[in-house]
Amino acid sequence: PIMAPASMPSALRFELLGKCSVTKARAATLHLPHGPVPLPIFMPVATQASLKGLTPAQLEDQGCRLCLNNTYHLYGLLQLPHAPLLTNGRGLKPGQATLDAVGGAHKLQAWPHNILTDSGGFQMVSLLKLAKVTEEGVRFLSPHDGSPMLLTPEHSISLQNSIGSDIIMQLDDVIATTSPDHARMKEAMERSVRWLDRCIQAHKYPDRQNLFCIIQGGLHLDMRRECTAQMVARDTPGIAIGGLSGGEEKDAYCSVVKACTELLPEKKPRYVMGVGYPEDLVVSVALGADMFDCVWPTRTARFGNAITSRGVLNIRNAVYSEDFGPIEKGCRCTCCRPTSEGGLGITRAYIYHVTAKETAGAHLLTMHNVHYQLNLMRLAREAILKDRYPHFVRDFFSKLYDGDQ
Ligand code: GUN
Ligand code: ZN
Repeated sequence: PIMAPASMPSALRFELLGKCSVTKARAATLHLPHGPVPLPIFMPVATQASLKGLTPAQLEDQGCRLCLNNTYHLYGLLQLPHAPLLTNGRGLKPGQATLDAVGGAHKLQAWPHNILTDSGGFQMVSLLKLAKVTEEGVRFLSPHDGSPMLLTPEHSISLQNSIGSDIIMQLDDVIATTSPDHARMKEAMERSVRWLDRCIQAHKYPDRQNLFCIIQGGLHLDMRRECTAQMVARDTPGIAIGGLSGGEEKDAYCSVVKACTELLPEKKPRYVMGVGYPEDLVVSVALGADMFDCVWPTRTARFGNAITSRGVLNIRNAVYSEDFGPIEKGCRCTCCRPTSEGGLGITRAYIYHVTAKETAGAHLLTMHNVHYQLNLMRLAREAILKDRYPHFVRDFFSKLYDGDQ
């Protein structure tokens, strides 16, 4: 049975500004406790309370107003050696005490804008092979000292309450979309609904932190629709679609996003978790999604890869050793932008030569890649507002597949 919602207070306002007349794309402003955020948006992932290769000030300069932190990593970062990471509601929680003392993640990172935290379970299961999910929560062995730990929905929310993030995520039971186990998939979907109820109960600050539910159900559209109905009935301030980006076929991915967005209320933000390839962002926006996150743009930068409108370039390739152009012509990022009027910006050759030995090359590419993603969503938003999104999509794909670098 679908429960009647105990209508939750909300710490956001979703201002819908425009809709595409052909696709399901929307442009909006999401008003959060730490300021307005333009939608659609890509959220860079600052795993350890810092985005590898960028300072908070640089991230701010790029126009980022909402970034992602990880409950699990933030907690591990602050925890004392040999102290229990998480407990069964009894022992010490040193990381949490430190967080409480510092005054939350915004102060810790000197980040005045918005933060979204993921609940931790997904990272636990995907990073630690030995994690085991039971109705109680996620059981795993501490990566620090091997002692047994348990992350419950209540723990996750309590930690995220201490972190003080503007958007907090429910603990969910995530199964790879490629799993053939239908019964286990259904169990995970239903458990995620039960865990949402526990998260709602445990959430101490619904008036200043927005709890998002996460729709599960793998690639089964019937399961996705059932889950969506259950989640929507709980009336959380925002809604996420989880369990994707695990190597499923693109058309299966699109069918799931479409099946979910069709059933979602128009007046709430929709977040597709773990998605970050530019072409996936552009298509998902057309399917009615508003928010995305992925470690790929920053991770791939550290392997020498630059995201451009004509595809990904590996700047470690010797063809760039004497290429004195910018990573991308016309890019306004702090890397590509000419340093003075008529002056030169950083060249591909420069990055090629420093990238092998210096972290500077990775920093510059990180800067460029984050800028590319943020700018792509800015341009998408402008196109939606002018009701030119189909044109934008065609233009994006014709550049991407043109091949000329
Ligand atoms: N990150 C990417 N996918 C997921 C998901 O399904 N759940 C959570 N909690 N985080 C994710
Ligand atoms: Zn650039």
